[in-house]
Amino acid sequence: MSSLLQDASRAGASVGLKGDTITIHGGRPLRGRIELKGAKNLVTKAMVAAILGETPSVLRDVPDISDVRVVRGLLDVHGVKVTSDEEGVLHLDPSNVESAHMADIDAHAGSSRIPILFCGPLLHRLGEAFIPDLGGCRIGDRPIDYHLEVLRQFGAVVEKQPSGIRMSAPNGLKGTKVHLPYPSVGATEQVLLTAVRAEGITELRGAAIEPEIMDLINILQKMGAIITVDTDRVIRIEGVDRLDGYSHTALFDRNEAASWAAAALATEGDIFVGGARQAEMLTFLNVFRKVGGKFDIADDGIRFYHPGTQLNPVIIETDVHPGFMTDWQQPLVVALTKAKGVSIVHETVYEQRFGFVDALVEMGATIQVHKECLGGQACRFGQRNFNHSAVISGPTHLRGADIVVPDLRGGFSHLIAALSAEGTSRVSNVGIISRGYENFIAKLEQLGADFVLEG
Ligand code: EPU
Repeated sequence: MSSLLQDASRAGASVGLKGDTITIHGGRPLRGRIELKGAKNLVTKAMVAAILGETPSVLRDVPDISDVRVVRGLLDVHGVKVTSDEEGVLHLDPSNVESAHMADIDAHAGSSRIPILFCGPLLHRLGEAFIPDLGGCRIGDRPIDYHLEVLRQFGAVVEKQPSGIRMSAPNGLKGTKVHLPYPSVGATEQVLLTAVRAEGITELRGAAIEPEIMDLINILQKMGAIITVDTDRVIRIEGVDRLDGYSHTALFDRNEAASWAAAALATEGDIFVGGARQAEMLTFLNVFRKVGGKFDIADDGIRFYHPGTQLNPVIIETDVHPGFMTDWQQPLVVALTKAKGVSIVHETVYEQRFGFVDALVEMGATIQVHKECLGGQACRFGQRNFNHSAVISGPTHLRGADIVVPDLRGGFSHLIAALSAEGTSRVSNVGIISRGYENFIAKLEQLGADFVLEG
């Protein structure tokens, strides 16, 4: 079995999805209401933060997705007791944090990128950490050089081994000055999770300021941390001797919200996304409106719907927050195949995030990918031979096809393509979608999709 298929079936199986292939009869608009839970990209980090507390934490609105299960498994092998007495609520008790057996850690190798964030907290609690090979979506090289450099700056000794990375902190961890070459989300979180208990002051320049990072800062402050967010991507952290547990309701998943919004547009449907909020989606909403999509903002969510008229082409450049998120482009591209005219998407965060368009082309879309930076400013991939700009000419009618899900967001866009296409599609590898979309099969049913899950 290829590693992609292994990942997909492991991800699907961990949230109770037996079949890995779904047959979709397209052409039916998605209509109805779905509810969001907490953001995958916050919840998993919040779970790691619980290691830093001397007392237990409570996290609410936790989605049932396989990435959460992976982190739960890793916490478990490190002695953090994770229990749940209510749907979506996790109790995390770190009173017995301990070093894990190598074999237990290895069982989680290749399944997620979160393990790298265990380093700082484990170094503080145990003086050592071992990180298995990392997984996550294959959307580029996804190096961890910033993470390792940051940890070295704090005083960690980093030793690369064949099966992972071993770290120790013989002299403890000390506050430092960090300037990230790029506002990496993960590296910013690495600095935060390490600096809060390091001795002295840490100054981070070039920080990422995504809403999920701000919510992680909220959590750390609840635990007792002292963190100042200045202008111009500067974050200052004063290390403290002790942190306690937190009680927190996670920020909603704006990536999932944008995915369902794109699904409403592409299928000519009407979806109320419960829990979605305007403030964290301003940039998405502007683009959605330019494409012609309609939305109504309510106190308890946002209704996204098709205008009933021709969609418009747009030029988008993905960027770090407050720009247009990279995770939003794949689902939206499906809707852009139906817009009249030429749209351009310039991907500036990941070098290889257009793998998913091959399937759309097979289904009848007209999309070309280019190595040049198109439609905006030159980015760091311009000279590096990566197909990171896409030109989408529409409108095109998608036809059903047999397609294989390549990664999380690309996979969701394949689902939308199949739902909006004429005829029947067989979409395999769908387990991977459960890494980040809670109960997506049940949600599709709720929204009136016509499909059969195999297996
Ligand atoms: N980068 C490096 N070296 C590093 C770290 C990052 O060169 O040590 C580069 C990456 O290769 C990439 C860029 O910096 O080109 C940005 O990566 P970043 O570190 O910001 O991404 P991440 O922390 O690995 C998180 C989300 C992604 C989301 C990005 C951008 C999680 C678990 N993942 O990834 O989410 O796209 O931030 O917002 O939080 C997804 O949910 O599908 C997903 C991929």
